[in-house]
Amino acid sequence: MYLVTGASGHLGKAVIHHLLTTNKIPANKIIATTREPSQLADLAAKGIHVRAANFDDVGHLTKAFEGATRLLLISTNAMEPGARIIQHLNAIKAAENAKVGHVVYTSMPNPTTSAVLFAPDHAGTEKALNAAKIAGFTILRNNWYFENLFFSIPQALKSGTQYSAAAQGKLAHIARDDLARAAATVLASSEGGKNTYTLSGAHEYTTDEIAKLVSAATGKPLAVVHVPVDGLIQGMLGAGLPEGMARMFASFDDAISKGNLSGKDDDFKKITGVAPQSFEAWVKANTSALSA
Ligand SMILES: NC(=O)c1ccc[n+]([C@@H]2O[C@H](COP(=O)([O-])OP(=O)(O)OC[C@H]3O[C@@H](n4cnc5c(N)ncnc54)[C@H](OP(=O)(O)O)[C@@H]3O)[C@@H](O)[C@H]2O)c1
Repeated sequence: MYLVTGASGHLGKAVIHHLLTTNKIPANKIIATTREPSQLADLAAKGIHVRAANFDDVGHLTKAFEGATRLLLISTNAMEPGARIIQHLNAIKAAENAKVGHVVYTSMPNPTTSAVLFAPDHAGTEKALNAAKIAGFTILRNNWYFENLFFSIPQALKSGTQYSAAAQGKLAHIARDDLARAAATVLASSEGGKNTYTLSGAHEYTTDEIAKLVSAATGKPLAVVHVPVDGLIQGMLGAGLPEGMARMFASFDDAISKGNLSGKDDDFKKITGVAPQSFEAWVKANTSALSA
């Protein structure tokens, strides 16, 4: 049985889709968990086993994980540094209790050294997996999604200006659907042992290069204004963002400027056998959503 947590999320939904279509896993061999099972009525209708699971409660989680032989632990979306690790440690404990044979975990690039403020949560989870009484695990260090641009580009295109603290740092981002495909493929495989892969796109881009590509595709001007990290935080505070969020988002640019999210490698191709979608093709396919 293959279990996917966070199955109602963007990544989880796409993983289930790939398990069924790309990896040809029968619906009745899949368990999908969520805090709110009514969100997954469509999956239940297909014959997938839908179970309630909340990472805040180990006892509840253990029951939800029972019978799973391979489990994909999708990191939670809590933004406050220190919040995710508590939930992930609960999930690892529950996987041990339920005698899951192999855990696949969605981490991030360079978790021990990254300037991203929640990186220690991923580093701590990886450490806990290494120490856990689980036969095998696969850590997928997922680079940033192309889709993260939906949080900044539409607004930036309206004003024609994008503020960045990423300097000339490079980002090797990748389509979320490709990350889902890689996760589904590892989950559906018989891979054992203890492996770590970094999943990045085929090319790395500076913020200026990304802006140029988006501008060309949308036909709208987009100038990048480079500011220091503190300046970016002050700007976001001025726009009304809570301080914790402003510091978190600014830490993403800081990480890019320091090269923490750069680097090309072929782990994605090794796992899936195909090349990742190119950023240029993704921008072309998402021009109207980026301009919205
Ligand atoms: N690499 C990147 O660029 C990037 C960007 C965004 C996020 N991420 C990370 O990757 C994960 C998946 O991305 P996504 O786009 O699918 O995010 P998403 O759409 O926000 O989904 C997050 C999932 O986390 C689950 N979750 C949150 N709190 C939980 C809890 N206490 N117990 C159990 N499940 C919980 C939710 O499940 P239910 O609501 O169904 O319980 C939800 O399905 C995120 O959670 C985050 O850790 C990475």
